[in-house]
Amino acid sequence: MSPDFSDLVPAHRLIPVVSLRSPAEAAPLADALRAAGLTTVEVTLRHEDAFDCLAAMVREEGLVVGAGTVRTADDLAGARALGASFLVSPCLTPGLAFAADDLDIPFVPGVSTATEIQRAVDAGFRTVKLFPAEVLGGAAAVRALSGPFPDVRFMPTGGIDADTAPGYLALAQVVAVGGGWMVPVIA
Ligand code: 3PG
Repeated sequence: MSPDFSDLVPAHRLIPVVSLRSPAEAAPLADALRAAGLTTVEVTLRHEDAFDCLAAMVREEGLVVGAGTVRTADDLAGARALGASFLVSPCLTPGLAFAADDLDIPFVPGVSTATEIQRAVDAGFRTVKLFPAEVLGGAAAVRALSGPFPDVRFMPTGGIDADTAPGYLALAQVVAVGGGWMVPVIA
């Protein structure tokens, strides 16, 4: 089973989800993240250059860089090989669960329903990404799902912003809040 993600989460419990357009964006982005104290960062894998962008971020000092949008076992292996410190997925397939089983870095699977949470627990995970959190009901959804799943910790992500984040962070079951709002894309 992969190690627990919570060890990598800073005290403020905020994880910026960033989508770099090119590796050249890594250095200025890293400067901004370090200046803001947002030192644990998830880099999405959403286009063909995304692995190069991940590698460029991993090379930056003073950051704990993970990969997001990990949808397949190949994504998982590729991100691990590039030195990602943790992996986040919007989903959990049998292939991902198998690939994550003896992983030496944390893997946070994605869930949207009670059944998916139980599947993640059955696969050995205790920390899940609740996605897309705002569409699913926001902090109220986390509170409701925590009733039958008191042993599960949540990283809500998806549609959260500076106004709604505190509602999640007030919940003890929330290990971290993720989102793109912390790093807006500048055209
Ligand atoms: C993710 O991959 O976690 C989400 O796309 C981030 O969602 P947001 O951009 O709505 O915060």
